[in-house]
Amino acid sequence: MKKSLIAGLACLSLTVTSAVPWAVLAAPEKGIITDNGQSSLRPITSDVAVIAHRGASAYGPEHTLTAYKQAMQMKADYVEFDLQMTKDGHLIALHDETLERTTNAMELYPDRAPWRVKDFTLDEIKRLDAGSWFNAKFPNLAKKEYVGQPVPTLEEAIKFVKQKGNGKVGLYMETKAPNVYPGMEEKLIDILKKTNVLNDKHLILESFSEESLRKLKTMAPNVKLIQLYTAAMLKGKVVYQEFKRISDYAAGVGPSKELVVPTFMDAAHQNQLLVHPWTVNSQDDLAALLSLGVDGEFTNNPDLLADLLNKPFISHGVASGDVTDSSAVLWARANGPANIQFEVSSDPSFKHRAIVKTSHADALHDFTVNVPVNGLKPDTTYYYRAHTVSSKYTVNGSFKTAPEQNSLKPMTMVWGGDTGGQGEIPPYKTFQAMSALNPDFFLFSGDTIYADNKTPAVPNPPSETVQDFWAKYKENRTDPGLRSLLQKTATFSIWDDHEVTNDFSGPSESLTPTGLRAFKDYWPISGERSSADKLYNKYSWGNTVDMMILNNRGYRDSNTKADGPDKTMLGEEQLKWLEQQLLESDAKVKLVATSVPISVPTGKANARDGWANGNQVNPNDPTGYENEFKKISDFIVEKGIKNVFFVTTDVHFAQVIKYDANQDGKTDYHELISGPIGAVKINPGTLDPTFGPESMYAEGDFFNFGVFQVDPANKQATVEIRDENGKIHFSHAFQLEE
Ligand code: G3P
Ligand code: CA
Repeated sequence: MKKSLIAGLACLSLTVTSAVPWAVLAAPEKGIITDNGQSSLRPITSDVAVIAHRGASAYGPEHTLTAYKQAMQMKADYVEFDLQMTKDGHLIALHDETLERTTNAMELYPDRAPWRVKDFTLDEIKRLDAGSWFNAKFPNLAKKEYVGQPVPTLEEAIKFVKQKGNGKVGLYMETKAPNVYPGMEEKLIDILKKTNVLNDKHLILESFSEESLRKLKTMAPNVKLIQLYTAAMLKGKVVYQEFKRISDYAAGVGPSKELVVPTFMDAAHQNQLLVHPWTVNSQDDLAALLSLGVDGEFTNNPDLLADLLNKPFISHGVASGDVTDSSAVLWARANGPANIQFEVSSDPSFKHRAIVKTSHADALHDFTVNVPVNGLKPDTTYYYRAHTVSSKYTVNGSFKTAPEQNSLKPMTMVWGGDTGGQGEIPPYKTFQAMSALNPDFFLFSGDTIYADNKTPAVPNPPSETVQDFWAKYKENRTDPGLRSLLQKTATFSIWDDHEVTNDFSGPSESLTPTGLRAFKDYWPISGERSSADKLYNKYSWGNTVDMMILNNRGYRDSNTKADGPDKTMLGEEQLKWLEQQLLESDAKVKLVATSVPISVPTGKANARDGWANGNQVNPNDPTGYENEFKKISDFIVEKGIKNVFFVTTDVHFAQVIKYDANQDGKTDYHELISGPIGAVKINPGTLDPTFGPESMYAEGDFFNFGVFQVDPANKQATVEIRDENGKIHFSHAFQLEE
């Protein structure tokens, strides 16, 4: 790392605001590797395989030589044959056990129902037309050359691919219904020997039948075997044990695509098994499975997968964040160095192209980009789309700008946190339930990753290198619910402790710079908020809500320090800023987004991590940050600041609390707590009485999130706690004070 570079960065931050103590350490270095060398969410093979499912069967009649030809023209690495056996023992390439769906057997042999392959000789089958059905079913793809396409025998199919593929295209064959065709394995091996491909490096045999694969293993011990799985086959099984069990004959697994989640990938790759999901046809799905680290994909559209594999593409979705009434930050990641182009328009068809922005994705930021967009209209839904300049693959998103200042428009936001800890990993259900509410924005209240917990991305925690932290963010972005929420909802992300390590204090934790760097790389954070790493800032929703986002980690004294007038969590500057914002705000509601709770004791005794010292559970606990919170609480009471709501997560249960800090019988402010989204579920305990809390609702042991709505016209704010299915567990309307 070059000294000069560090010096340059240090002086920069000092000029902006008084930098956080460790700012100088966050300088990125050149030419870094982005992979953390331990995640199981990455391919265990150097070349991810394009497997043409039944040929290029989205464009031509499956299992015909023309469909195989197109697959090879589309740069498929493998052409897949499903095998059936004729009455006279010939292996043919056909998916179904009957000839009905993909040939004209019903017309040619009307009295031979149900047209099972095993009831026909090869000669009879060779008279069939295996192409015209495709023209009839897909008239827009119909071609004259498809008429009369014969059913190929296995030999013909092998020879054709070998010739046309110049020996470079692999063969991938499935013993279909081996119980219907006794001896098909022997027949298969004979043909592979006769056609001289048995020892081909790129030969793979697959089956749903373990018995068939074990038979093939004895006859051809060196051939790669793939065990196919449906969801029903894995029901009730512990995938890690199941994969350990089959790894004595299988080189990989072929799961139905919905089975592929981080746990599945981890179990397979920990057992050195390739993962080839089927059948994946949209580029969104193809990209999503690549982000999980699959080793190949069965697809009817080999061209779409080849396009993704040959050029950098948008690999982990898009996001927008830190929106105001005239600006937003757009985020995307490519899977390699690339220029990423965003188009932004209030017209979903992009006919009226408003704004085009291009940014270079480089390894220093794990190929992520954060692009500010300004000059937007207030209270407007904007549509945007992103693609790498070199790839056709485009990902769409949308966000809503805040209403103009001084307007009083209703607002609905969702908040949640604690995602990816204590063994909980994607898929999470909660994000879908959030999306379903079409909120104006999403407040991600910290613990957006658990860098210090064991997961497939970091099987040997804690995260130490920036690559480890990046791997954690990528792991959570494999969650389809999170990706789609981020794509269609502006997000305000704040960090808490597990973005770095449990209960950390920024200035005294050596991992802080690295954790912060990755946090800023993976969230759409405005320059305003990220400059000098202050991370705190105010955002408004017209005059309905002012939201003060805090940074509860960057300036914090160590948890073990005895509380007192000089102990701080926020740092003097941020504390002054918060008081000023609260005082100046004339919004109906003041939201304070804090990543730690006020009166729920967290952390551990003598090292409390939230504001409370928890002396109701550990009398005379000298720690906590109550002195500082008292300054905030007294300020609110003395200045008579109305309608203040502290919003947080962190405690892994949901609770709604009202505070009468000066014991005058009147509520001074509220605290709204939700979570977890995906971490250990805990049950509520007792509250630290210092600031006069009264619990209005408390529930634990379930995944949940919060909804906060403000209806200025009716002078009302409403809080809801919903579970991961979106079911309301608690709802309360607050009358807003004038
Ligand atoms: O062989 C992988 C996949 O093709 C399995 O399903 O029914 O398309 O053969 P199917
Ligand atoms: Ca198949």
